[in-house]
Amino acid sequence: MDRRKFLAFVGGAGALAAMDGNQKADALEMAMGQELETKRIGKSAYCRAYGADNSWERGPRIPGQLSHMGHDPRLEKMSKKPTLLEYFDKRIGHNSHLLQSARLAKINGLPEHMVLACLLHDISVVGYINSDHGYYGSQLIAPYVDEEVSWAIKYHQSLRFIPDEDVGYPYPEAYIRMFGEDYVPEPYIFTDGEYARNHKWYMSARQICINDVYSFDPNVEVNLEDFHDIIGRHWRDPEEGLGFDNSPSAHMWRTMSMPNNSL
Ligand SMILES: [Fe+2]
Ligand SMILES: [Fe+2]
Repeated sequence: MDRRKFLAFVGGAGALAAMDGNQKADALEMAMGQELETKRIGKSAYCRAYGADNSWERGPRIPGQLSHMGHDPRLEKMSKKPTLLEYFDKRIGHNSHLLQSARLAKINGLPEHMVLACLLHDISVVGYINSDHGYYGSQLIAPYVDEEVSWAIKYHQSLRFIPDEDVGYPYPEAYIRMFGEDYVPEPYIFTDGEYARNHKWYMSARQICINDVYSFDPNVEVNLEDFHDIIGRHWRDPEEGLGFDNSPSAHMWRTMSMPNNSL
């Protein structure tokens, strides 16, 4: 993506200068995703409904007016026991970047659970919350996947800033173009990246980065159906439905389902 378009996306050079490193990186990923989505299905229904910042516009309360509770009529109604596929259909969207990452992982011969990791690696950016997306995404899916999958998603957020040319991951050229050569991420990125580098699952998180930066091709079409079998084998939908199984992330799924509850 060229710099002019990126500056327009963030609201100008002044707005970009006011961002910290993580915000810049997240903005770049969003801008690249949005550019891609001019041809493909884009933002989740959840994000579309609330605008770029997902905020709820509150005017002064009219006497007698009730707070909203339950299903938001602007969103497609979820079933009583929603599955991951239903969330893809009704909230997350069949996001091209996620699908292309998973496709690339498959082409590169990664094991099935890692193809799933690539399919879900930015699930938080797309369907839940942008900031610290590796950490939120990891928590969201942890109860339903192998621990290695959620671990890898957590640490891809840090490792994308830390090159490892020996395994085929130079510092992304796009980051230099967009953020300048002197950009330095927050210290916790390096602390967590260093931890990840010495972990037995290091290459799993690294593989997400490797299959991530090249996955913004608007000319490649990928269908979620291509991954139904892998989801079936490596994702465990709870019997009660996502959001209702009392797991540590059930509330996060409920928030995606009913994002405007006044609870
Ligand atoms: Fe990411
Ligand atoms: Fe990504």
